[in-house]
Amino acid sequence: MNYDIKDINLADQGKLRIEWADQNMPVLNLIRERFEKEKPLTGIKMSACLHITTETANLAKTLKAGGAEVMLCASNPLSTQDDVTAALVKEYQIPVFAIKGEDNTTYYKHINAVLDQKPVITMDDGADLVSTLHSQRVELIENIIGGTEETTTGIIRLRSMAEEGVLRFPLIAVNDADTKHLFDNRYGTGQSTVDGIIRATNRLLAGSIFVVCGYGWCGRGLAMRANGMGANIIVTEVDPIRALEAVMDGYRVMPIAEAAPSGDFFCTVTGDINVIREEHFGEMKDGAIICNSGHFNVELEISSRDKEGNLVRGLEKLAVKKKKIREFIEDYTLSDGRKINLLAEGRLINLASAEGHPSSVMDMSFANQALSAEYLVKHEKDLEPIVYPVPQQIDREIARLKLRGMGIEIDTLTSEQEKYLASWDMGT
Ligand code: ADE
Repeated sequence: MNYDIKDINLADQGKLRIEWADQNMPVLNLIRERFEKEKPLTGIKMSACLHITTETANLAKTLKAGGAEVMLCASNPLSTQDDVTAALVKEYQIPVFAIKGEDNTTYYKHINAVLDQKPVITMDDGADLVSTLHSQRVELIENIIGGTEETTTGIIRLRSMAEEGVLRFPLIAVNDADTKHLFDNRYGTGQSTVDGIIRATNRLLAGSIFVVCGYGWCGRGLAMRANGMGANIIVTEVDPIRALEAVMDGYRVMPIAEAAPSGDFFCTVTGDINVIREEHFGEMKDGAIICNSGHFNVELEISSRDKEGNLVRGLEKLAVKKKKIREFIEDYTLSDGRKINLLAEGRLINLASAEGHPSSVMDMSFANQALSAEYLVKHEKDLEPIVYPVPQQIDREIARLKLRGMGIEIDTLTSEQEKYLASWDMGT
């Protein structure tokens, strides 16, 4: 078997951690049991570019149980769990191409390695597979029946490809399923981002000023959890409705330029570029901690370069020196001696210094992935090269199974209620 991982000797530890996560993934377990019997993915070559974590390992096992030939590569150079890659290769015979801390060249070498198997289905978290296929490996597109996309950032990229008319196969937007973003983005990002910041810094959140840039589902979750640990939250937003929501959730809302001098912690979760810029870093307090939990490491303006590659703007330009002071912290000294602490090179802090979202929320996200892959195989002939939502039936079934796994029952409509909801004639 072809693979490229850090150290196969880490497999025992990886296996234990994968099994631990699996205990909290009841929906994926049910799907795996059914897949084992029905084999809906028999012979389907799947290339998946995901964060390689214990939860992803359980997804890969499920796809393999369904008969798929799965290959994995990382969707971020810093999120790979090296013990998990070892266990996937040694214990589960699933080829993996991912090493934590890999450079950009290796990252793309690994993407190309999983594409070399000529996939029939792609699975992405951030759309790097689909974008590489459409720009450099176009000859492989004719084999592909469709793909799935895990995250907001990836879906934005895919929708712009569809709008430009360049998208060449159907994609299912897993992120947009209710059982994905309402739980993974909100409670998953909320908890894992706070976890990542604490593991990286060991600082106290209580009494601090914590600036959350972006109030989508991830920002809402992060603000809620940091607030729950006693931090005073400032939200920055560009969308007036989200800004209003943040105000009515009880937070202060202001432009980043106004928030910059007062924050102790800053975390971006916007999906956009250069949200905190050089001029904002220049106003920050000595010791400010800055990080990102959005998909790409572009939300903090660390180094903007011109066409010739010269450093023209950003924290790197502003600082007179930098020093690594803890595993995930680089402190940048400004000319007047103030220090700004950058966590995990601006890459997603929840996966770089912590372990990503807990398995219980990834259970639903990855149930959507597995069932969307099955849907692509079943509906191959009916689909166009556009971005599709996860079918409602799948979304609601996952919610039902999750509730069942938690031992929670809910009411059903009486026939009188059903009739009432379908009628218009009963008024005041
Ligand atoms: N994205 C966020 N958390 C994750 C996890 N635990 N596994 C895979 N992808 C993730």
